Amino acid sequence: MNNPFVYGEAVSGHYFTGREKECRELRAELKNGQNIIIFSPRRYGKTSLIKKVLEGLSKEGVLTFYIDLFFVNSKQKFIETYAEAVAQELKGPFAKISQTLKELIPKIIPKIVIKTGGGTSFEFDFDRTRKISPILEDLYESVHKLIKHQKKKAVVVFDEFQELLSFDDGEIEAGMRSKFQFHRNVSYVFLGSKRNLMQKLFDDKSRPFYNSGRKYPLKKIEAEEFAKFIKLRFGQTRIKISDEQVISLLELTGRHPYYTQELCHFVWENAREDKKVTAATINKSIREILSSESTNYNNIWDGITAKQKGFLIALAKNPEANVYSQEFILGNQLGTPSTIQRLVKLLYDKQIIEKENGKVFFEDIFFEKWIISKAT
Ligand SMILES: Nc1ncnc2c1ncn2[C@@H]1O[C@H](COP(=O)(O)OP(=O)(O)O)[C@@H](O)[C@H]1O
Ligand SMILES: [Mg+2]
Repeated sequence: MNNPFVYGEAVSGHYFTGREKECRELRAELKNGQNIIIFSPRRYGKTSLIKKVLEGLSKEGVLTFYIDLFFVNSKQKFIETYAEAVAQELKGPFAKISQTLKELIPKIIPKIVIKTGGGTSFEFDFDRTRKISPILEDLYESVHKLIKHQKKKAVVVFDEFQELLSFDDGEIEAGMRSKFQFHRNVSYVFLGSKRNLMQKLFDDKSRPFYNSGRKYPLKKIEAEEFAKFIKLRFGQTRIKISDEQVISLLELTGRHPYYTQELCHFVWENAREDKKVTAATINKSIREILSSESTNYNNIWDGITAKQKGFLIALAKNPEANVYSQEFILGNQLGTPSTIQRLVKLLYDKQIIEKENGKVFFEDIFFEKWIISKAT
C-alpha cells in the first residue's frame, strides 16, 4: 500500500485537500479577466492550488498556460519555457501545432522530441546571433492572438515569478506589462514565494507591474479541513489515529501544509505494522525527520554568522517572544533593536525565518526543533 501522505511536489487528486473558497474565488476572478498576484511563504500550496484551478477552468473551455520560472536563468531560457507552455496547450497533430506556432511566433522553429519516459514535448530553436526583443514581443502577444480567433478566454500563470529579477535587466518586465494591459480576455497570474522580491515587483510605484492585479495572500490550510483529511487518509489505509493525536500533529507543525504532510508521511510509515498511531510512533517520526534533514540543517548552520546563530537559538527557545522587545534583546544579549532588525532581514532573505502580523517565526519547524536538540 502506498503512503497516502505526499510532500515535495505540487499535489493533486486524493492528495489535495481544502482550499474550496480559494478555488471558487480564483476561478471567478480569472474568468472575469482579472489579473492576480498570489503570494505566500514557500510550500504553502500555491502551485498545487493554481494547478487545481487551471484544471477546473480547462474543463470549462478556458485555455490555460503554466510557465514556471524556477529553473529559468536567462532570457533565452525564458523564451523556450514560455513557447513550450504555448505549444502544450495547442491541440492536434504536430504539423498543425507547428503551423499555429509559426503564425504566433514566426522567428522560432519548433521541434518535437520524444521524452525518455514516453510522451512528447517541444524544443525551440532560434537564431541566436540576432536580437531577441522581437521574439519576446511575439511571445507576449501569442496567447492573446491565439484566442482572438477562437473567441475563448485564457489564463497564463507565471510560477515563482520573482525569479525574473535574477536574469532580466528590465526589458521583460516592462515589455510584458505594456502588452498584457491590453489583453481583455486573458488573465495573468503571478505566483511568488519571496515576499520581498514580489513586493519590489508589484508595490513599487516606479516599476511597470505596480498596481497591475489583485493581491491574493495565501494562508495555511484551515485546521478543521486539514484534520478531517488526515483522519480520513489514515482511516482509508486502516490505521487507527485518535482525534487528539490528529490535533497534536497539527499543533506540532503549526498547520504548515508541507511539514504537516511530511510528518504524517513518517507517522504513517511507522504505524504501518501495528496499524495504530501511538505517542512513540510520533516521537520516532520526529527523530527520523530531524536525522534525515541533518545534513541540510548542518549546511544552513555552517552558512550563517555567530550573531545569526545566537538569534535563532533564542528564537527557538522562545517561539512566542516579541523579538524586538527589550526583554528578548537584553535577556539573550543580542545587541540593540537595530541589530535585531538587521538579523531579521538577513534571515528572512535566506528564507530561514518568516514574518506574519509583526511576528517572527521559523520557516521550517523541524529546523527549530533541530536547533533545540543541539543547543540544549
Ligand atoms: N491543498 C493541499 N492539500 C494537501 N497538501 C498540500 C496542499 N497544498 C500544499 N500541500 C503540501 O505542501 C507541499 C508543497 O505544496 P506546493 O503547492 O508545492 O507549495 P508552493 O507552491 O507554495 O511552494 C505539497 O507537496 C503538499 O505536501
Ligand atoms: Mg510552487
